[in-house]
Amino acid sequence: MKIVLIPGDGIGPEITGQVKKVLDAIASKYSYSFQYEYALLGGVAIDEMGMPLPKETVDKCKESKAIFLGAVGGDKWDDLPGNLRPEAGLLGIRKALGLYANLRPALLFPQLKAASTLKEEVLDDGLDIMIVRELIGGMYFGEKGREELERGERAWDVEVYTTEEVERVARVAFEIARSRGGHLTSIDKANVLESSRLWRSVVEKVAEDYGDVELRHMYVDNAAMQLVRNPKQFDVIVTNNIFGDILSDEAGMLTGSLGMLPSASIGDGNVGLYEPIHGSAPDIAGKDVANPIASIMSAAMMLEYSFGLEDGAQDIYRAVEKVLDRGYRTPDIMEPGMKEIGTEQMGDLIAEAVVR
Ligand code: IPM
Ligand code: MN
Repeated sequence: MKIVLIPGDGIGPEITGQVKKVLDAIASKYSYSFQYEYALLGGVAIDEMGMPLPKETVDKCKESKAIFLGAVGGDKWDDLPGNLRPEAGLLGIRKALGLYANLRPALLFPQLKAASTLKEEVLDDGLDIMIVRELIGGMYFGEKGREELERGERAWDVEVYTTEEVERVARVAFEIARSRGGHLTSIDKANVLESSRLWRSVVEKVAEDYGDVELRHMYVDNAAMQLVRNPKQFDVIVTNNIFGDILSDEAGMLTGSLGMLPSASIGDGNVGLYEPIHGSAPDIAGKDVANPIASIMSAAMMLEYSFGLEDGAQDIYRAVEKVLDRGYRTPDIMEPGMKEIGTEQMGDLIAEAVVR
């Protein structure tokens, strides 16, 4: 089983190291063997190869079933033109692999209730939302440009969607909703945007094939408010690229820390890309303080979605719970009375707990 590891920038290499430890533990437990290959993407690729997404990286990824990606970006590359920035490498690899559906589960561990910024009574017995973000369309990929005016400049990024692009991601969301609580909220801004009106009508058409799923539509501004007012009303959310980017950070914080949120990006082929939703956090890079749990749980999603190793995935989720139960916390989720540990030790403890 071939896995491409793309550590990337900032805290990326540290958290990727913890993922490898945990995957190795799973491999030894079940006598699997994972073959790792490393690839460059983002800032490191710019420094070493002169571009954010080298062709070698695309080729390696296309030949594998699963890719783990740490994070990309950093101040060092912030002044480069848009198409040469580290982030362009990330958008580029998602596009090159046709990964149009990004699954971002926001799951609150009961152990971390107090770390959430929401009141305990709002969280009640926990939170379990699945955000399905369209990943390779919309304004992140639409025509963009800039021109000089007599006074100042004009710049634009076009929000554009086709029927087919909406349909395929909607199907993924309906399937997931069917396998969970049976509720789907489609989020748009159809009161203002034409692209959202298309989005809404296509989602409604797809809904005809899913009579067992309860669909509702919600405007994005209202959704942003509802997520903090009463997050428990959400089961599965489907939305476009930019709204999904923003709302998933918001939902992430509800679970206590962005450091807890994994993601899986899938398409029609059989390659999947797994990454934490937090960024490269250059301010804490190399300090052994980053929370590796989002990454480790991304690896669990990899076992589940790319390799069908459901047991291995469950082992990882259980191991994370066990370590939290024992009171270990990285600084981002630290609370009085708990034991503060670093990135490496969190990785070691979870890897140990996986085999037990
Ligand atoms: C994310 C990130 C990326 C995105 C950036 C780094 C390009 O914010 O995965 O959410 O916008 O998709
Ligand atoms: Mn984001």
